[in-house]
Amino acid sequence: MDSLTSHVSIRKFKNEPVPEELISQLLISGIRASTTGNMQWYSIIVTSEPVLKAELAKLHYNQSAAVTAPVIITFCADIYRFSQWCVINNAKPGYDNFISFFNAAVDAILVAQNFCIAAENAGLGICYLGTVTYNAADIVKLLVLPEMVVPVASVALGWPVNIPELTDRLPLDVVIHNNRYKVYTSEEISKAYKEKENLDSSRNFVRENNKERLAQVFTDIRYNKKDNEYFSARFLDAIRSQGFDI
Ligand SMILES: Cc1cc2nc3c(=O)[nH]c(=O)nc-3n(C[C@H](O)[C@H](O)[C@H](O)COP(=O)(O)O)c2cc1C
Repeated sequence: MDSLTSHVSIRKFKNEPVPEELISQLLISGIRASTTGNMQWYSIIVTSEPVLKAELAKLHYNQSAAVTAPVIITFCADIYRFSQWCVINNAKPGYDNFISFFNAAVDAILVAQNFCIAAENAGLGICYLGTVTYNAADIVKLLVLPEMVVPVASVALGWPVNIPELTDRLPLDVVIHNNRYKVYTSEEISKAYKEKENLDSSRNFVRENNKERLAQVFTDIRYNKKDNEYFSARFLDAIRSQGFDI
C-alpha cells in the first residue's frame, strides 16, 4: 500500500540502464494479472536498443519521459497469437470484433499496471505515454506488429532523477458511491473540485493559458473536442487496419 500511495509519474530518468533480469522479474509480476478467460490476449514489446528507442520516442512527440527513459515498454492488445493457435487446431476464431478488442485492451492494460506497481516497488520510475493511441499506426509499423495486434499502453521506464511531489486526487468520498450511484448536485461537484482549482499549479495553469476557469484549460486546450475527434478517428483507423471489424 505504501508503494501504491506514493506513486508519482516520473518524466526525467538517469542515463543508466535497467538490467534485463530485473525487467524480466517485473514482467513475471505483470503477467500474473487477471486475464479474460486466461487467454492472455496481449503482447509486451520491450524497447531498449538506443536507435529504435529514439525512433519510438519520436512517435511519442519526444516527451522528456520517452526521450530520457532507457526503456519504453509497449503493451499491445494481441489476438493474433491466440487466433493462430485456434487455426492450427482446426478451431475457427471469431475475435475480429469490438468486444474481443476491448477484452484484449483490458488484459494488456491490467498487465501494464501490475508491471508498473512492481517497477515502482523496485525503486524504478514510470510514466504512461498516452501518445501511444495518437500514433498507433506508426507504432504498429515501427514495432512490426502483425494483424490483430494494437498498441494500447506505453510506459517509459527508468531510474528517477528525482521524486516529484505527490499530485492531487479528488477526496475519496467524491469518487466512492455506496451501493448505488448517487447523482451529484452542482454544489457537490463545485465543492469536489474546489481544492484542485485552488492549487497553485492549477492557478498558474489558468493564468498561463489566459483562461478564467481550470475546467476551460481542459475543454479548450489540453483535451479539446477537435483534438479528441481527430485522434479518435486516427486510433479507430489504426485498429481497423489491424483487422478489427469495428
Ligand atoms: C493512460 C495514461 C496516459 C498518460 N499519458 C501521459 C503522457 O503522454 N505524458 C505524461 O507526461 N504523462 C502521462 N500520463 C501521466 C498522467 O499525466 C499522470 O498520471 C497524472 O497527471 C497524475 O499524476 P501522477 O501519476 O504523478 O500521480 C498518463 C497517464 C495515463 C493513465
